[in-house]
Amino acid sequence: MTQAKPAPSGALQTVHVALGARAYDIVIGRGALAEAGSRIAQLAPGGKAAIVTDARVGALYGQRLADDLSRAGLRPTLVSVPPGEGSKSFPRLIEVCDAILAARIERGDLVVALGGGVIGDLAGFAAAITRRGLRFVQIPTTLLAQVDSSVGGKTGINSAHGKNLVGAFHQPSLVIADTALLDSLSEREFRAGYAEVVKYGLIDDPAFFAWCETNAEAIFGPGPARDHAVAVSCRAKAAVVARDEREDGDRALLNLGHTFAHALERATGYDGSRLVHGEAVAIGMALAFRFSAMQGLCPQEDAARVGVHLASLGLPTRLQDVPGGIGTAETLVEAMAQDKKVKRGELTFILARGIGRSFIARGVAAADVRDFLVGELAGA
Ligand code: GLY
Repeated sequence: MTQAKPAPSGALQTVHVALGARAYDIVIGRGALAEAGSRIAQLAPGGKAAIVTDARVGALYGQRLADDLSRAGLRPTLVSVPPGEGSKSFPRLIEVCDAILAARIERGDLVVALGGGVIGDLAGFAAAITRRGLRFVQIPTTLLAQVDSSVGGKTGINSAHGKNLVGAFHQPSLVIADTALLDSLSEREFRAGYAEVVKYGLIDDPAFFAWCETNAEAIFGPGPARDHAVAVSCRAKAAVVARDEREDGDRALLNLGHTFAHALERATGYDGSRLVHGEAVAIGMALAFRFSAMQGLCPQEDAARVGVHLASLGLPTRLQDVPGGIGTAETLVEAMAQDKKVKRGELTFILARGIGRSFIARGVAAADVRDFLVGELAGA
């Protein structure tokens, strides 16, 4: 459930991810980056650090972070890849691993992922496999990365067969989420991350969803509401990850909207100009609620309320909202069959009995999903 009121402006909050020997803290708030040097140096005093970033984020914060790490007694090296989903690829992974080795990063040293979800996933996976495992720190610079991908240890790259199909569970040693970095995000990128914030309310926290409905405007601005939204999201994710680190059970709830979303991303060729991940998740969550309503599981009003809230912020909620179209119901169902959330040919979805009442639905008939999508495409 939603805890506490928004912290006063300027106060950093810490969320602990309780994973025994692999436990770590998430430090959240405006100005958290200013403490990155000293906090990271405590993990490897006098050691080396490879800062993996992309050209855009690196130009904004790369040198500043490198200088902070140097002042804290670390020896940093900057490693940059092009921005965009295309960097979650085997060629870029090889480049990053080689750059880490060329910087002579050893087992006691660190990899620091400075960027959005692409960088966190790529750098985290490089850290997982280079020298059979290096410790790494996440400094997420997008809302989506701060509330989802930087927490929980899922790392990886994409394959021609689908998204995130090659990877490893590798927990970070520390996450630093400076919410002031979100000031420079485009409105579109912020909105896309906001879909993942709303997700936590839809999974099991109806009070948080209601709070989001009332406070969305404030969350989009710089201030305590934004920090609160990030902290509640991280707390919710930390609790799920602590219960089920490797997605044997409950963690699958975090995939609400994602079976539809991954199929949509695949159908658009991962073309971020048409559809970014968070937008696909917004459509996916709206579809999951409408599908649940159609199956008689969830009140129609709840499904409508989800769609209305997401759309009120400019997020897409219908298949027709994807520019350029997304093909047929059959191709979407086929794309779902390739997703990791498929076991022995059966589709697994996260469906809902209402807002904040999501559950794992195994063995969903592909024919029901196809019929539903046919109706959606016809504008039903
Ligand atoms: N993004 C879903 C998870 O981390 O499990």
